[in-house]
Parts: sequence; C-alpha cells; structure tokens
Amino acid sequence: MIELVSVTKTFGEKTVLAGISATFDDGAAVSLVGPSGGGKTTLLRCLNGLESFDGGAIKIAGETVQPGGERANRAAFAKLRGRVGFVFQQFNLFSHRTAIGNVIEAPVHVRGESVSSATERARQLLAKVGMEEHGHKYPHELSGGQQQRVAIARALAMKPEVLLMDEPTSALDPERVQDVVELLSGLKGEGLSLVIVTHEMHFARAISDHVCVLHSGSIVEQGAPREVLSAPKDPRTRAFLGLE
Ligand SMILES: Nc1ncnc2c1ncn2[C@@H]1O[C@H](COP(=O)(O)OP(=O)(O)OP(=O)(O)O)[C@@H](O)[C@H]1O
Ligand SMILES: [Mg+2]
Repeated sequence: MIELVSVTKTFGEKTVLAGISATFDDGAAVSLVGPSGGGKTTLLRCLNGLESFDGGAIKIAGETVQPGGERANRAAFAKLRGRVGFVFQQFNLFSHRTAIGNVIEAPVHVRGESVSSATERARQLLAKVGMEEHGHKYPHELSGGQQQRVAIARALAMKPEVLLMDEPTSALDPERVQDVVELLSGLKGEGLSLVIVTHEMHFARAISDHVCVLHSGSIVEQGAPREVLSAPKDPRTRAFLGLE
C-alpha cells in the first residue's frame, strides 16, 4: 500500500503540494493527471526520494519517508532504492552502455551481483519487454519506444514492488501506446504497483484502476477512471477534460 498523509511542499514562495492525502492499493495502477504545473511530477519524485517535501509523510513499499530529504531518511532511502523503480520521461539511459549494460548496472553496482548472473537476468528482462534482439545496441541505435522498454527493464532489474513512470507515452507514436498498455498490464498482473503521470486520458483510462486529478497542488478528485474521467464532479476536472 502507498499512503500519502498531508504531503506539502513549496519551492520558494510557491506551494507546489498543498496537503496531498491518498491511499493506493498494492498491485493497483494509479494515474496522476491534471493541468500543467499542478504538481504531478513533483509528487511522483517525492514518492522515491528524488525530491524532498516539507510536511506530512509518505508510506511506500514498507517504509515511511518523512520531510527533510536525504538527511532525514537515509535508512528508508537505502531500502527503497531497490523496491521503488522510476522510469524517467526522457528515459535517461546511460548513453555509453548497451541495453544489457544499462540493465545490469544497478544489480552489479548497487547489489553486488556478479556480471554473469546479472547479464543472464538482463537477457530475460529484455525478452520480457520484447527487446531480446537489441541487447547489444546503444541507446542512440534504438527508437524512443525501444529505449523506453530498456528503461523499464532496467527499473525491473532491481525487482521493485512499485514502478513510477513520468509521461510514459510522451515520446511514443500514438500507435505504440497500446503496446505500453499491454506491457504495463502484464507487469501489474504479476503484482507490481504502478503510479503513472500522464497527459493522455485514453491511456489513463486503459491502464488505471484509480485516477487522481491534481490541480494547483491538491487532489481535487479521485476514484475509478470511469467515474473521474467520464463523469467528473469537480468543475476543475470538468474544465481540464474540456467538458465545459
Ligand atoms: N526545481 C524546481 N524549482 C522551482 N519550482 C519548481 C521546480 N520543479 C517544479 N517547480 C514548479 O512546481 C510546480 C509543479 O511542477 P510539476 O513539474 O510538478 O508539474 P506537473 O504537474 O508535472 O506539470 P507538467 O504537466 O507540465 O509536467 C510548477 O509551478 C513548477 O514551475
Ligand atoms: Mg510533469
């Protein structure tokens, strides 16, 4: 279970998270949607300690993260590093490493796994994301969708309980979006919890069990996608979806 308890954050004078509370079930896919600047990426980054927050608490993958960033949460972050995976919007693959090299990086350097066993598992993970034939390629030799698959395999290499993704469809051709839905649905079926920031409502509808609408740092509406995205009650959600 992921639990957000009154999470607040400011950047200078600006309140970016204005007291976010929510509970996400284990094995659920949650989408964070809403207008630009609403705080989606910031909230996602807070979930795995890439960003510190000022008030409240975040319970995730069995750990509680407190305000105060690295200094206040060293022990929790050490444990969360393997349990919570993050796939960046621009994928952030290591450009000087092959697909296999990217996937074995954390198991070898963070977990101290042998190169041979990490490589064996990397091959399995690349096969799982449909990239078995591309293990020897460097990121610049791969399309956006292929790089994303490598980034997902890289995140899975640490056997996370939760996978966080920022705009996973933004670098993809529209016809590739269904592939991501299928890949993520498969991972969810294996018990992985997903939290996904997205601008694409049909993607949110296809993948999620729960949708949160963030507006100016607050969750203004949340629930099942068929309610929130098809029959929203809050006027800010209705405006965001172009319904009025
Ligand atoms: N490092 C930073 N320093 C100062 N302000 C920031 C920083 N990062 C984000 N912000 C501000 O915080 C607010 C929320 O940003 P965030 O990136 O979380 O929005 P978002 O909902 O992901 O938007 P988008 O849909 O455009 O990606 C914005 O007003 C942004 O300008
Ligand atoms: Mg964002």
